[in-house]
Amino acid sequence: MKKFIQKALEKLGKMDPGQIRALIVRVSEENDLLGMLLESLTDGIIVTDGNHKVMLCNKSAERLCPFAMDDILDRPLWDCFSDRALSDFFAATLQSQGKVSDREFIIDGAPHRILAVSLLPLVRGGSVQGNVVHVEDVTEKRSKEARLRRAESLASLTTLAAGVAHEIKNPLGSMGIHLQLIQKKIAGKGRIEAKDIGQHLAVIGEEVDRLNRIVVDFLFAVKPMDTVLEEGDINRVIEELIDFVRPEMDQAGVTIDKELSPLVPLLRIDARYIKQAFLNLIKNAVAAMPGGGVLRVESRREADDVLVKISDTGEGIPEDIMDKIFEPYFTTKPFGTGLGLTIVFKIIKEHFGDISVESRVGEGTTVTLAFPVPQKETILIDYKGDSK
Ligand SMILES: Nc1ncnc2c1ncn2[C@@H]1O[C@H](COP(=O)(O)OP(=O)(O)O)[C@@H](O)[C@H]1O
Ligand SMILES: [Mg+2]
Repeated sequence: MKKFIQKALEKLGKMDPGQIRALIVRVSEENDLLGMLLESLTDGIIVTDGNHKVMLCNKSAERLCPFAMDDILDRPLWDCFSDRALSDFFAATLQSQGKVSDREFIIDGAPHRILAVSLLPLVRGGSVQGNVVHVEDVTEKRSKEARLRRAESLASLTTLAAGVAHEIKNPLGSMGIHLQLIQKKIAGKGRIEAKDIGQHLAVIGEEVDRLNRIVVDFLFAVKPMDTVLEEGDINRVIEELIDFVRPEMDQAGVTIDKELSPLVPLLRIDARYIKQAFLNLIKNAVAAMPGGGVLRVESRREADDVLVKISDTGEGIPEDIMDKIFEPYFTTKPFGTGLGLTIVFKIIKEHFGDISVESRVGEGTTVTLAFPVPQKETILIDYKGDSK
């Protein structure tokens, strides 16, 4: 409660009509101001009492929400919506006294609209006295994001397609040469002998494998990703992956050193893709340590991010190629596809994360992935009506 009202209430008995009038004017002015503020918001606000009945609803909420009736005041919140998903959401969330931020709903209509709905408890004097619903129209925001993503992937598609054309030239050329050599041998002798053509066939087989790898990786790189982000334990994903690669590491003389922090919170991830990204990084790390070494995998929380670091004690990346390693088809390996890091980058971006690389030639390389920690849905609005 405003301090001046509290003071006035204490002295109410001693006030003359003029003072009481002035007090009422001041209170109603204050009320008008708050009302104006509420009505001028572009976001929708709905406030309910302790029984989940609507006490207040601003104009933007009326404009944005698909209400089932003209007047929703005094009705239970879940009865107010013509949209089934919204009604069910409010019924379930309010009954479990949950808090939710930015849950998105697609509202039917022409055109469709996307609403981001948050539900927060209204806390007064330490106890929950109702709820505040915040509604934001994110349709434009989402479609802009989708447009941007499409444009980006189109641009990279052109680079990739040009790259593929270039990449398949070599194996095709080599296959052509070996076929010609086979033909010559056959023409000369008039018959085929296994010892004459075995070597050519082996090369052709290798080139087919290479073509296959190029095509598979290309498809993975250009295919729109069907990421489904769900709460997941990134440490578990790492553990599973390490178990999977351990035999190969043993064989390559690589020891694994892992340090996974138990304080890492659950993240919104698609475990299938995260595994693919980590695997690509581990493969690069191992390839950089042909004589063996240490692969270190670390996870920890740092401020609003979870960091995953994958380090090797390998040959390192020379300064002058550092800014090329993420480019599609950039490779320094005789049989590399140069798509490993392109794919990693794409996967990490789908997770709204970041990637950075530090390296010293002759000492090793550390790739750091940063994943944002989901906003905890724990904001309480402390509504004391107090201006302090
Ligand atoms: N851990 C690493 N150590 C040294 N060089 C690396 C490492 N990771 C990536 N690179 C460099 O980046 C290039 C591109 O990597 P990538 O996109 O995975 O393609 P590829 O592994 O097929 O070459 C590699 O060829 C290599 O030169
Ligand atoms: Mg690679």
